[in-house]
Amino acid sequence: MTSGPTPLTQGAAWNALREHYEVIKAVHLRDLFAKDSGRGARLACDVEGIYLDYSKNRLTDDTLRLLLDLADSAGLRAGIDAMFRGDKLNVTENRAVLHVALRAPAGATITVDGGNVVPKVHAVIEKMAGFANRVRSGTWTGFTGNKIKNVVNIGIGGSDLGPVMAYEALRVYSDRALTVRFVSNVDATDVAESTRDLDPAETLFIVCSKTFTTLETLTNAQTARAWCLRALKSDQAVARHFVAVSTNAGEVAKFGIDPANMFEFWDWVGGRYSLPSAIGLSLMIAIGPERFREMLAGYHAMDEHFRTAPFDRNLPVLLGLIGLWYVNFFGAESHAVLPYDHYLGRLSAYLQQLDMESNGKRVDRDGRAVNYQTGPVIWGQPGTNGQHAYYQLIHQGTRLIPCDFIGFCRSLNPMGPHHDLLASNLFAQTEALAFGKTAAEVEAEGASPALVPHRTFPGNRPTNTILVEQLTPEMLGKLIALYEHKVFVQGTIWRINSFDQWGVELGKVLANRITPELTSQTDPDLRHDSSTNALIRRYRRLRLPG
Ligand code: F6P
Repeated sequence: MTSGPTPLTQGAAWNALREHYEVIKAVHLRDLFAKDSGRGARLACDVEGIYLDYSKNRLTDDTLRLLLDLADSAGLRAGIDAMFRGDKLNVTENRAVLHVALRAPAGATITVDGGNVVPKVHAVIEKMAGFANRVRSGTWTGFTGNKIKNVVNIGIGGSDLGPVMAYEALRVYSDRALTVRFVSNVDATDVAESTRDLDPAETLFIVCSKTFTTLETLTNAQTARAWCLRALKSDQAVARHFVAVSTNAGEVAKFGIDPANMFEFWDWVGGRYSLPSAIGLSLMIAIGPERFREMLAGYHAMDEHFRTAPFDRNLPVLLGLIGLWYVNFFGAESHAVLPYDHYLGRLSAYLQQLDMESNGKRVDRDGRAVNYQTGPVIWGQPGTNGQHAYYQLIHQGTRLIPCDFIGFCRSLNPMGPHHDLLASNLFAQTEALAFGKTAAEVEAEGASPALVPHRTFPGNRPTNTILVEQLTPEMLGKLIALYEHKVFVQGTIWRINSFDQWGVELGKVLANRITPELTSQTDPDLRHDSSTNALIRRYRRLRLPG
């Protein structure tokens, strides 16, 4: 493969941004706001119940115009059309990228390889709904006739992070009589702790794996199967206590799960985009089919917004371009997502996979090394906890960390002063980050000269604020689709394939080689590097007690 500059950084739009950055880098948000009293209201977008305030970013109208030029010259419009049309954008796996079909309304037509996939999608949603209703009502019983009281999702990556994030986010809408748990880690502690207080006769396992070959998931599923059969003492119990969600019917059958109890999805759904597919079955059982459909409607509303809105009023496009501005021109290495809602505790973990597995790429779609940065490190925790931990670095550290603050106007648990305190902290943080506190202000407060530099806040730290009325299933769908499409915008401009994940393969292959070396009775002939060899030898010496 050839390396060197790609057309992206040689283009007029990129060069114009580079020159423009030289002007903007010295401009402070304090000055931008001071000379434009309408900035806060103008640089905002109110769409689909989502208010995006992007005024506290280090940009001007000229910046936006240049970023929009970049989007145009990078072929973003054609890229969006291609995705929604079902083109095989995942070039390294020769697959369409059609998670949008998972939330298309019945009656829509989206074609893959000559066939309309929408009826298939709705058939699976119906099958899921029938099953979820049977579990919720108690008509689906365990092997011994007991009502199912516990649902355990076994999966990893996209087969775990979406369901667990959304279950936590929508817990208030869930059937509280059900215990819903998520097992992902191959560390036995995960499955052991998740099942220790459950009665196997009342427990349903949903084994979620697109490929049904993933080591962690199959190991956990085998352990759960043994746990269940130890108590229920008949192989026939598997059919009542295990269902599968997969694209691989053959492997599901080999595991011993009745194919009738398999919920299907398709290779044109990437793992990290699969929550609105059958992978969301545990969520649907928890919140019920109607709520799940509301979430799908929210996703679809954002899909339609993304597909049709002009770019300068298009939320995913704006978020994508603003993020790219910091990554490629300011050199920002990371991006924090800070939800001011405790129910969104798993959102940043979910977004880590969505963004970093999608855009953590170093070659373009043609295999050429890129000469610009791609996906940033995504991280964050719910407010206000982070304020008492790492916000110090965001306010006064040496790095530029663009942040998305996500807040809600109404709490799902309205109690006393809590929510107003939470919201005031969100607003205060974005204000402090943008405007800081000058040395003169600190001096005027009477600080000793020695303390002035320590108590000065430089400000000019960029944030987006996403403000929404209340967290509902529909709104969650909109927010997830917003971030999915943001990732698409950036991946398209960076000319990378956001839909493969070859980077996870090498570690899997090496682990498969090392496992027998850890467990063999005789000393293995270790042919790794000297560090890995030494670690393996030490582990072998200590792995068994005594
Ligand atoms: O290893 C990465 C990955 O392939 C993710 O992309 C995926 O979400 C996860 O593993 C789980 O894969 P599966 O659903 O096939 O078990």
